[in-house]
Amino acid sequence: MANSNLSNAKNAKNDEFYTQYQDIEKEVNAYLEYNPDVFKDKTVLLPCDDPEWSNFTRYFAQNFERLGLKKLISTSYAIESKKYKTDWQPTLFETENPLFNADKSRVCGKIFVLDHDTNANGRIDIDDLQWHYLEGDGDFRSAEVTALRNEADVIVTNPPFSMFHEFLAWIIETDKQFLMICNKNSVTYKDVFPLFKADRIWSGRTEWSGGMWFETKYKEDVDKVVDGVDMKNVASIWITNIDHGRRHQPLPLMTMADNLKFSKHKEIRGKESYEKYDNYNAIEVPYTDAIPRDYDGVMGVPISFLDKYCPEQFEIVGATESEGRGFSNGLWDEKSKVSQPLINGEKQYKRLFIKRKL
Ligand SMILES: C[S@@+](CC[C@H](N)C(=O)[O-])C[C@H]1O[C@@H](n2cnc3c(N)ncnc32)[C@H](O)[C@@H]1O
Repeated sequence: MANSNLSNAKNAKNDEFYTQYQDIEKEVNAYLEYNPDVFKDKTVLLPCDDPEWSNFTRYFAQNFERLGLKKLISTSYAIESKKYKTDWQPTLFETENPLFNADKSRVCGKIFVLDHDTNANGRIDIDDLQWHYLEGDGDFRSAEVTALRNEADVIVTNPPFSMFHEFLAWIIETDKQFLMICNKNSVTYKDVFPLFKADRIWSGRTEWSGGMWFETKYKEDVDKVVDGVDMKNVASIWITNIDHGRRHQPLPLMTMADNLKFSKHKEIRGKESYEKYDNYNAIEVPYTDAIPRDYDGVMGVPISFLDKYCPEQFEIVGATESEGRGFSNGLWDEKSKVSQPLINGEKQYKRLFIKRKL
C-alpha cells in the first residue's frame, strides 16, 4: 500500500512538467520547413495545458499569423482535479479579470480561444486571447473537451504522463493530426508499437539522445536551475503523425563486410559475422550505426532506432516480446519460452526487428 501510494505520488508529480518555449519552436519549425502550409487555415487544440503560463499557448498565439491558423483553442485542468496538490493561487490575470468567479476558479477548467483581432491593433496575437470557465474541470475525456477535439484539425500537447495511454487512444480514435510529448519507454508498449510498425505514428524532429528539459514546480525534482527556473531532465520524445524532412533522410550505413572490418564498436569489429539470437530468427545489431546496409534478412536493433527510422529505407517487422507476444511476427522460437532476446543463453536488451527496403 505504502509503495503504491509512493508510486501514485511520483506519477502525479510527473504529470506536472512544463515544456520550454524553444523546444516547442524547434519541433514545430521542422514541420513548417517540410510544408510551410502545414497549419494554414487549421484549428489547433492544445488540451491539458495551463494557458496562463503555458509555452504551447504562447508559441501558437504569438505565431498565429505566421502559421496562418484559423483558430487556436487551449484548455486547462482545474486545480482541484489535479492529482498533485500544491499551494496554488489563481493568477492575477484571472482574479483581476471581470470574469473571475471564486466559486468556479478551483473546480472548473478554462478555455482560451484566439481567432480574431479583438483589440483592433491590426494583428492577431497573444493579446487577443479570450477566455472563460469551462462547465467541467477540463478533463480531456469530458464531453466538453472531446467536442473541441472533434472541432480541431491538429492537437498539440505534453499530456499528463500518468494518462499517456488514455490520451493517445483519445487522439488515435479520431485520425486527427497530432504532435505530443511522451516517454521514450512508451514506444514498445502494446498499444503504441503497432502504430509505429504501421507507420501511423513516428518520432518527431527532436533527437532522442539527452532527453528533454522541463520546468518543474517540485523542489525535490530539480536537476538544475537556469535563470532562476527549476528544471528537470526527462527521457521524453516527441511523437506525431505529421510529416517532417528528417524522417525521409536515409541513415548513412556501411556494408556488413566493412562493419566487421572497420566498425568503431568492439562487439562487431574483428568478428567473422554478426551474432544470431538463440530464440529469434534474426541477427543482433547492438547499435543503430552498425546496421549493415546490404543485409537482406531480419535484424534486431535498439529501440532508439525509431529516432532514425526512414520508412523508405527500412520496414519495421516486429519487436521482442516484453509487451506482448504478438509482436515477434513469427520470428520467435516459442520452445525457448524466453521472451527477451538471448545470445548464447544470455539475455539482451529489448529489440525491434527491421528489414531493409532500399
Ligand atoms: C505534463 S503537464 C504539461 C502541461 C503543458 N502542456 C506544458 O507542457 O507546459 C500535463 C498537464 O495536464 C494536466 N492534466 C492532468 N490530468 C488531466 C486530465 N485528465 N485532463 C486534462 N488535463 C490533465 C496536468 O495537471 C498538467 O497541467
